Amino acid sequence: MKPLWKWVIILLVIIIEFLVWTYPYEEEVRPFAWSPWEDKPEIIQQEPQSPSEPLEPQSQKPSAEDPETQKPTEGEPEPAEQPQSGDASGYSETPKPADDTGLMILVNKEYFLSRDYVPNDLAPIRYYATDRSPEGRYMRKEAADQFNRMAEAAATEGLEIVMTTAYRSYGFQTTLYNNYVKAHGQKEADRFSARPGHSEHQTGLAVDISAPSVGYALTQDFEGTPEWEWLMEHAREYGFILRYPKGKAQITGYMYEPWHFRYVGVEPAKKIEESAITLEEYLSGSSRS
Ligand code: DAL
Ligand code: ZN
Repeated sequence: MKPLWKWVIILLVIIIEFLVWTYPYEEEVRPFAWSPWEDKPEIIQQEPQSPSEPLEPQSQKPSAEDPETQKPTEGEPEPAEQPQSGDASGYSETPKPADDTGLMILVNKEYFLSRDYVPNDLAPIRYYATDRSPEGRYMRKEAADQFNRMAEAAATEGLEIVMTTAYRSYGFQTTLYNNYVKAHGQKEADRFSARPGHSEHQTGLAVDISAPSVGYALTQDFEGTPEWEWLMEHAREYGFILRYPKGKAQITGYMYEPWHFRYVGVEPAKKIEESAITLEEYLSGSSRS
């Protein structure tokens, strides 16, 4: 090879190396940061259209779209619905520790859970409103499995049901309740939000359910939607009852909540729903035979 060609080739190599080294390399940009939730199934059909609850409990504020936060102007007639026991709030003057063994835990204005009670078998729920706090997407294992089965059964009939909140820690409930008291005053808050330790959500056996037909909100308008009608017919087959029915605030201590369901197991759920009684009545034995 002539010396001139040799120098041409060397020059070409140098130019190519230079171009490679100076190419404006950009780091791959991932569309989403990694999240521990990203491998979880999303809700069946679509994202919530109008987020109505802050993501984290510490920033959770009462929202007009969330009736656990909403001033309960709809629902039950006021005078007949005031709880009878204890003071006007319905809380017992001598609250007792709840028996937290088994699945038939009774937590209400008379029975409470300790600050450090956390169910030891919490399992994830697969069908949830994505705008709510991830830490609430759990129930006790049997209840979570049954909720997932129930949501899948509804989906086969073209109905999407999702949970908005299920398990709540004592701390979460403290923040939630305090915010409602600030927004509505204690008297009103006590009609629809439990004081810390008195929320059934802490048992891991309660779940607030909503659907796209009401924008995934917790609202009295949930009643009468196709999803709610389906739940009224089928929830018992999966062991769930409507925990705070219309006209029962004197017994349950809370206004009507068409979204709040409680897992009790299939046979008790059928008995309770067919007899149109509350969990309190069922456990008092007055309607068991
Ligand atoms: N809304 C129900 C009563 C709760 O706060 O647990
Ligand atoms: Zn609830």
